[in-house]
Amino acid sequence: MSDISDLFCYDLPTSPQPEIGKILVTGATGYIGGRLVPELVARGYKVRVMVRSQSPVHVERWPEAEIVVADALNQESLKSAFKDIHTTYYLIHSLLLGPKRFESADVTASINFRKAAEERGVRRIIYLGGLGDVRTPLSPHLRSRMEVARELKKGGVPVTILRAAVILGSGSTSYELFKNLVKKMPFVLIPYWAKTECQPIGIRDVIKYLVGSLETPETVGRSFDIGGKDVLTYEKMMKILADLLGQKKPFIYSSLSVFTPYAYLAIALTPVPAPIVWSLLEGIKSRVVCQSDHIRKIIPFEPLSCREAILRAMIQEEQDNVRTRWSDAYPRDYSLAVKLQDLKRLPKFEVSYTLLSQKDAGSLFKAVCMIGGNEGWFINNWAWRIRGIADRLLGGVGIARGRRSSSTLRINDVIDFWRVEDLKHNRRLLLRSEMILPGKAWLEFNIDPKNENNRLTLRAYYKPHGSLGRIYWYMFLPFHNIIFNGLLKQIERRG
Ligand SMILES: NC(=O)c1ccc[n+]([C@@H]2O[C@H](COP(=O)([O-])OP(=O)(O)OC[C@H]3O[C@@H](n4cnc5c(N)ncnc54)[C@H](OP(=O)(O)O)[C@@H]3O)[C@@H](O)[C@H]2O)c1
Repeated sequence: MSDISDLFCYDLPTSPQPEIGKILVTGATGYIGGRLVPELVARGYKVRVMVRSQSPVHVERWPEAEIVVADALNQESLKSAFKDIHTTYYLIHSLLLGPKRFESADVTASINFRKAAEERGVRRIIYLGGLGDVRTPLSPHLRSRMEVARELKKGGVPVTILRAAVILGSGSTSYELFKNLVKKMPFVLIPYWAKTECQPIGIRDVIKYLVGSLETPETVGRSFDIGGKDVLTYEKMMKILADLLGQKKPFIYSSLSVFTPYAYLAIALTPVPAPIVWSLLEGIKSRVVCQSDHIRKIIPFEPLSCREAILRAMIQEEQDNVRTRWSDAYPRDYSLAVKLQDLKRLPKFEVSYTLLSQKDAGSLFKAVCMIGGNEGWFINNWAWRIRGIADRLLGGVGIARGRRSSSTLRINDVIDFWRVEDLKHNRRLLLRSEMILPGKAWLEFNIDPKNENNRLTLRAYYKPHGSLGRIYWYMFLPFHNIIFNGLLKQIERRG
């Protein structure tokens, strides 16, 4: 159960109605869904969470919720997810599939969803989509969000559509994109199209509208624009960010209409995946401002200003309390998502490093779990950074993704260019590489008792792709020996 101070909806003017029946949250592993589930549970709702793959981490994360595995691209699987459901939230988003695939995947998902919901007698759908004026040219991303709304509405199940622009909160894509641009550019380059207006909304207000809509019958089957207190230009928003971050940098205006170099610059400077950066920046060209404020009368509360939303995001970061982050969700068919346990046999290329320590397993494991992010890799950080830059230049995720939290880890969290594949308290941390490599790689830390001591082992597994993959392994082995031995000693020292 969440602490009340962590909940966004404690002051929501609507009343919980858990008697309506079971609520299905889709996209629960994503940024928005991950924040919605605890709020619903805390308000007494029976919640079913839809995920695309079974994992013990889901049970640990949502002990009060029912978990169902289904994929919106597979209509049959949705039918079991919808059994006995009163209302379902549609928070599915395929942007990470990249520009060529996300639009068709999102439309197919929404068609399957509509049909399965209708067949199962679902009473309501609540969809969080994007703001934008259909009479103006829209980016493929904004167009696709509207297409999803149209598809969902074609069925017999009433759909509530909430349309939001930029969402500001700790871990949100927009917040991290703009924050990194402001922090990392020597001067803040403002393209002419950053003069477009938007109406950013804080993540807490988005969640309040999502929950409030469920609890307000007047919202059934209607569409609402949701926004924060301010309508401002992206330029003004970046100035507020610079001010709050204490970044006293000149803002330089560019009248050039070229989009591509700016997008590449943003991709290089921010940890956000390239397809998302691209889509967000394309969306900046469109004015995204609420066309009506009806929702304010139906679910009355004072939304946050842009400054307040940014400040809250910064405080959450400072308190190491980022509950969900854009990096949580990524496509399951991503070629780098293959798990070590899914391989028929362990990779032949393996190297391990061991040391014995008198320190207890808990302290050693705590030190293991501090690696990466702001803490760095304890030693030879320059080498990890160079690898990260090379990765980003090759179109990979780079090292700048950091971590959701500097003190806690859960399965599926990212640590720079790694992702946590397995975590066994005080025993094992298994990381899967998401860097661009001619092969697949894993890094495993194990702690096990040995006589009176604890044995700390670091094992690197590598499955090469062809001869280039093998050359890579042998070429970097001497460096890995230095780096991994050094890392192990540092972990022991900090344990
Ligand atoms: N974040 C924002 O700034 C923002 C702004 C305005 C509107 N919105 C809207 O809010 C909604 C949620 O956004 P988000 O930022 O939370 O997205 P997100 O973090 O990218 O999460 C997307 C979710 O969709 C799930 N998903 C993707 N394909 C699926 C499929 N075929 N079947 C089932 N689940 C699938 C993912 O599950 P896996 O973990 O299995 O991949 C993940 O849980 C979207 O409709 C978006 O348009 C977001």
